[in-house]
Amino acid sequence: MLDIDQIRADTPGCKDVIHLNNAGSSLPPRPVVDAVVDYLRQEELAGGYETAAARVDELDDFYRATAEYLGCDTNEVAYCGSASEAWWKAFSSVRLVAGDRILVGHSEFQANAFGWLQAMDRGVIVDVVPNDERGDFDLAEFDRMFDTDVKLVSLTLISMSNGAVHPAAQLGDRLRDTDAIYLLDFCQGAGQMALNVDELGCDFGVYTGRKFMRGPRGTGALYARSSVLGSLQPSPFLDGRSATWSSQFSYEMADSALRFEFGEVSFASKVGLAVATRYALSWGMDNIENRVVSLAERFRAQLADVSGITVLDEGTRRCGIVTFSADSRQPLELQQSLRSNGVNLSAPGRVNAQLDMGDRGLDGVLRAGVHYFNTDEEIDRAVSLITGLI
Ligand SMILES: Cc1ncc(COP(=O)(O)O)c(C=O)c1O
Repeated sequence: MLDIDQIRADTPGCKDVIHLNNAGSSLPPRPVVDAVVDYLRQEELAGGYETAAARVDELDDFYRATAEYLGCDTNEVAYCGSASEAWWKAFSSVRLVAGDRILVGHSEFQANAFGWLQAMDRGVIVDVVPNDERGDFDLAEFDRMFDTDVKLVSLTLISMSNGAVHPAAQLGDRLRDTDAIYLLDFCQGAGQMALNVDELGCDFGVYTGRKFMRGPRGTGALYARSSVLGSLQPSPFLDGRSATWSSQFSYEMADSALRFEFGEVSFASKVGLAVATRYALSWGMDNIENRVVSLAERFRAQLADVSGITVLDEGTRRCGIVTFSADSRQPLELQQSLRSNGVNLSAPGRVNAQLDMGDRGLDGVLRAGVHYFNTDEEIDRAVSLITGLI
């Protein structure tokens, strides 16, 4: 089970702030920060190449830990600098020509949208699968919209702007025996719940290290199913790690997910993400999810009772994300007041999630991302502060 005293002792930031911004960027636990600093100290003394050679095992543990988390092979994992980098490398490796169709969910994040908006400029048809009345990706509507022209389906597992956890595995079941590539953004899921790529059925999965996974900033992971590599085109993002310049006028792609990596990354942060992943796994992903869901439910229920606050969460399955608005204060303004009173959360705007916020007529929301190191007392204090401020 979760030893909250130990977890909070590993998270020194808990002493000073009520950190509810784990959907933005979490507080990394001490072992993660120590691993990064320790790695940099060795680079300082020994040199970057020499440190990498001496620390191969720790660097490789990124692949082992991530593969253990996602239930895949180590050669299906690539290290990236962000979820957006991972998403673009996956997306740009799918061959799309004018007349092909892409189906996208309603919870797409801005970076993903830029990909399919550019594809539209090239004559690719993009259709948005609506959510149903509960705010879930509408599988029945998807069944009506899907045909053999669909070459790619892009779903965001958890909406960053309303917290809905979409039925990604049911979509995976539908896509399993088709030729369409299934690209799943589980950026907001990684670190707060178990994710198994075989159950999800996705061909690609992307996430960032800094959110619920509690890794360093500037880290991310890409899962690429080995059986789809043969059907892909080379992504334009290549260097000497992802491909080999094999003769003067030819090159060969790496035959594993390494084809999605750059050779030059923060090696220290890669070790940090490996340690963060091990740290999460050591507590048990189901334990983490249970606590996160119950803390978030407490927060949501208390906020719903505050006059002048509207809880804006959607979807049947809920997670650690709690979104709301205040009648009397703009989201950014209230977020800043909360920050100056020691409570961290974020205020995503319409530009981050046009499909969702545009349709709901929202310019922004307040968003908490509750994590397992938070406590009931923190939730209660945050609610009473919010009540006072509005
Ligand atoms: C759902 C979702 N996808 C992708 C991203 C992009 O992650 P990154 O900033 O690591 O590129 C975010 C970041 O907020 C997100 O919430």
